Amino acid sequence: MSKEDDVLSKLDSKKLPQHVAIIMDGNGRWAKKRGLPRAAGHLAGVKAVRRIVKTSTNIGVKFLTLYAFSTENWKRPRKEVDAIMSLFKIYIKKEVSTFNKNDVRLNVIGNIGDLSDDLQEIIDNALKKTSKNKGLTFTLAINYGGRQEIINAVKNIVNDVEKGIIRKDVNESIISKYLYTSDLPDPDLLIRTSGEMRISNFLLWQLSYAEIWVTDTYWPDFKQAEYVKAILDYQNRQRRFGKHNG
Ligand code: FPP
Repeated sequence: MSKEDDVLSKLDSKKLPQHVAIIMDGNGRWAKKRGLPRAAGHLAGVKAVRRIVKTSTNIGVKFLTLYAFSTENWKRPRKEVDAIMSLFKIYIKKEVSTFNKNDVRLNVIGNIGDLSDDLQEIIDNALKKTSKNKGLTFTLAINYGGRQEIINAVKNIVNDVEKGIIRKDVNESIISKYLYTSDLPDPDLLIRTSGEMRISNFLLWQLSYAEIWVTDTYWPDFKQAEYVKAILDYQNRQRRFGKHNG
């Protein structure tokens, strides 16, 4: 058994988080520490994405959601935004065959209509080509904001109430159905890299009962061993969902 597999065997396969969400942070600082441009940090970030998708499949996590670009990230310098967008294009286009080989279904959430036409086309194509896969559902949040998602859901709910499609006694399950994540279970575990203790407008509704695990490691340095450590920690927690401990 390789050292890598040995780490995996420590996990209790009956208590795996079904859905892991990750706020990938620290690409810029990773690059700065090495005297490199920020774009180099994002490029290294893509490699970490590849690793973590692979590890998720190996572990048997069924849903992985990565915060790749927030609605606030447009405020970064134009050059950096362009670099990130071209990484999305290259990565998504190139990765389709690997997704199919590993039974990974790609899913994208966020305001996709505001992305460039060519990126939208690449996303549509990758979604179609991987839609039949049954292993890991890998969701990329691109141009995503939790508040914007809720506003969007409320608008659609109001619309459908007015049209008589749904009744006006809105409840939790109706709201969940109108979010971008209607076909995903809520995340069980949220991982954030590079030490920041914030949710940063990510999956505000869906993270209500998620366990949170934060590491100081910058995203490009986040590897399998630490991912497993986060899940081991999760497996030792008592989830109460607001109930008492008795
Ligand atoms: C966080 O680091 C990273 C981002 C906001 C962009 C995420 C992009 C990638 C990981 C690369 C592309 C991903 C895919 C899925 C192809 P930061 O820039 O906020 O780092 P800092 O806080 O140190 O400045």
